[in-house]
Amino acid sequence: MINRIKGILAAVENFQPKNIEEIEEFRLKYLSKKGLIPALFDDFRDVPVDQKKQIGAEINILKQKAIEKLNELKDSMSVTQEGKIDIDLTRPGDPIKIGSRHPLSIVRNEIIGIFTKLGFCVADGPEIEDDKHNFSLLNFPQNHPARDMQDTFFISPDMNVLLRTHTSSVQAHEMSELKPPIRSLSPGRVYRNEAISARAHCLFHQVEGLYVDKDVSFADMKQTLDYFAKEMFGEKTKTRLRPSYFPFTEPSAEMDVSCSLCGGKGCNVCKGTGWLEILGCGMVDPNVFIATGIDPKIYSGFAFGMGIERITMLKYGIKDLRLFFENDIRFLNQFTAAI
Ligand code: PHE
Repeated sequence: MINRIKGILAAVENFQPKNIEEIEEFRLKYLSKKGLIPALFDDFRDVPVDQKKQIGAEINILKQKAIEKLNELKDSMSVTQEGKIDIDLTRPGDPIKIGSRHPLSIVRNEIIGIFTKLGFCVADGPEIEDDKHNFSLLNFPQNHPARDMQDTFFISPDMNVLLRTHTSSVQAHEMSELKPPIRSLSPGRVYRNEAISARAHCLFHQVEGLYVDKDVSFADMKQTLDYFAKEMFGEKTKTRLRPSYFPFTEPSAEMDVSCSLCGGKGCNVCKGTGWLEILGCGMVDPNVFIATGIDPKIYSGFAFGMGIERITMLKYGIKDLRLFFENDIRFLNQFTAAI
């Protein structure tokens, strides 16, 4: 009897089902009314009295172990009472949160998309710059008040290493390192020591454009930027250039687009003027060509630079620039894009 019990116990303990059906077979074989364990209880009647205590205990342990094993197997295979898998295949899936691109990335990609259609290539440059590329090569003379236009974060005490104040520094790299024709677009972060407010931040993003070749004219620039504005803000957008000053372009201009919110009639976004300023531009100053080793008698070119935050604010009607940097999911969730 003892050996029979031990044999069944070993079989119960070593049992490994391959599927749910085998678990049910296990139950039938050992625990059902006609199973091996109830049969032991039947035969128990014939056990000599002096052995009853020991054998009775053994059979009870075996039964307990068999029940435990069965429950364990059922749990591991998610089996219901009826022996079916407890998975409801018609239940809707758990919602998966899909991220969205940051609005500044959406607009940056859109700007890149428009200019790459015109043959511009994306060019990268360092955010930690030297004075040469951020200022000197771009015709900002030493100790010239023009440097005050941009409140610079200097890194080295001699003021030679700094955080770039504009993406025009990439222009300086391109012109001194490449031979024309150059047609480049440089998006990236720029830094200025400004008080943070709804309209200004110490970190923001620009896209720089540079086109250098033979016979590049002001009219080419005007046409390029007009095309950009219409692609970005819509077919009906009008543009105008106002004279301006930048040390590295001559002549220089700022471009306005007709206000897309009021259609040029005047509203609080365009402060009643019907126009919104979106970028600075101009013909590359001959001094910059000379400093970077390009012959201004052979080549001419234009450059432009725009703030991505400003364009994004205009496009989406965002009133506070600080929202871009707060990582508030409620703000970011509102933007979706395929690019
Ligand atoms: N770098 C200028 C700025 O940050 C913009 C600019 C770029 C102007 C290229 C002219 C040409 O304001």
